[in-house]
Amino acid sequence: MARFLSSLLMGVLVLACWSACVMAESTVEQQLQRLKENYQLLADKDRRLEALERENVKSRKTLEAQMTRLESKTRRMEIEAIEQKSQLTALQQQNVLHSGTRAEMATRQAATATIPRSCADVQCNGHTVSGMYSIMGNTSVEMVFCDFTKTTADPNFQRRIGYADVKTVPTYFYVQKNTSHTTAYTPIPFEVERVNIGGAMNLQTGKFTAPRAGTYFFAFTGDARFVGPRTSIVAVLVEMLWNGRRVGSARTTESNTAGSVHSQMSMQSTLHLKAGDQIWLQIGFMTSGGVAYVFDNPNADQRFNHFTGWLVEENLAGLF
Ligand SMILES: *[C@@H]1O[C@H](CO)[C@@H](O)[C@H](O)[C@H]1NC(C)=O
Ligand SMILES: *[C@@H]1O[C@H](CO)[C@@H](O)[C@H](O)[C@H]1NC(C)=O
Repeated sequence: MARFLSSLLMGVLVLACWSACVMAESTVEQQLQRLKENYQLLADKDRRLEALERENVKSRKTLEAQMTRLESKTRRMEIEAIEQKSQLTALQQQNVLHSGTRAEMATRQAATATIPRSCADVQCNGHTVSGMYSIMGNTSVEMVFCDFTKTTADPNFQRRIGYADVKTVPTYFYVQKNTSHTTAYTPIPFEVERVNIGGAMNLQTGKFTAPRAGTYFFAFTGDARFVGPRTSIVAVLVEMLWNGRRVGSARTTESNTAGSVHSQMSMQSTLHLKAGDQIWLQIGFMTSGGVAYVFDNPNADQRFNHFTGWLVEENLAGLF
């Protein structure tokens, strides 16, 4: 009985043990399975993470590139903005310069429809670039530097450089004699014309007529001849006349002339003439009797009397 009981007990125990073992075994497998599944999940997640990370890196690179592009675009725009601002400032400055009221400008423009008389006129006439300009001055054309970056009120807006040597007509002459002049108080004519630009010198009448108001220069050199022999003093005086009034004289005297004696006379002058004023030379005095006169030689290339003159500076006042 006891044996049977113990066998039974054994049997129960074995059964219990088996079932427990079976149960234990199934739990391990399940766990293993779950572990496997978990591992799979983890691996999947890891792959997804890696993919995400790759995506991330790509996105970051794209973003960085976009940032760089944006930055350079911003810089370009900043530069453009600075340029536009300076252009605007220049325009505003010009506006300020031009803003001597529209009416004032219109008046000035009307006044300078012909010839500019100041840098303001030059500006009114449309010039905007600073530089050297010619303007009409009081008596001559003036060369000025116009600084259009300054306002018209600024003393350096217009700076005078000097006058421009502008003449409405060129006037130069140089004439000579090839024959003696033996009469007093009549204009000395000249026979040989070297230069007579402008034609102001009339050789036949001996008179120069100023074509324009201005400053003229004249020079005369002459040959006085004394026929000897004579013991008393002999003289020749040539005078320059300006509309009939004496400007000055050139005189030479000799005494105890043995034979034929020659003597030099010379005279220079610088005169302010009006248009139409006349200048000529004449013998103002000479010893009578044909013993003293202005001598010249008809032989070629022997010229002893010279009269030259030119317009140094024309006075343009009132002409324009
Ligand atoms: C021109 O004349 C005016 C008025 O007489 C005078 O104020 C000015 O200084 C003169 N200009 C020159 C360059 O001589
Ligand atoms: C003087 O010069 C003029 C012009 O050259 C000439 O016609 C004339 O014959 C000359 N007179 C004499 C005297 O040589």
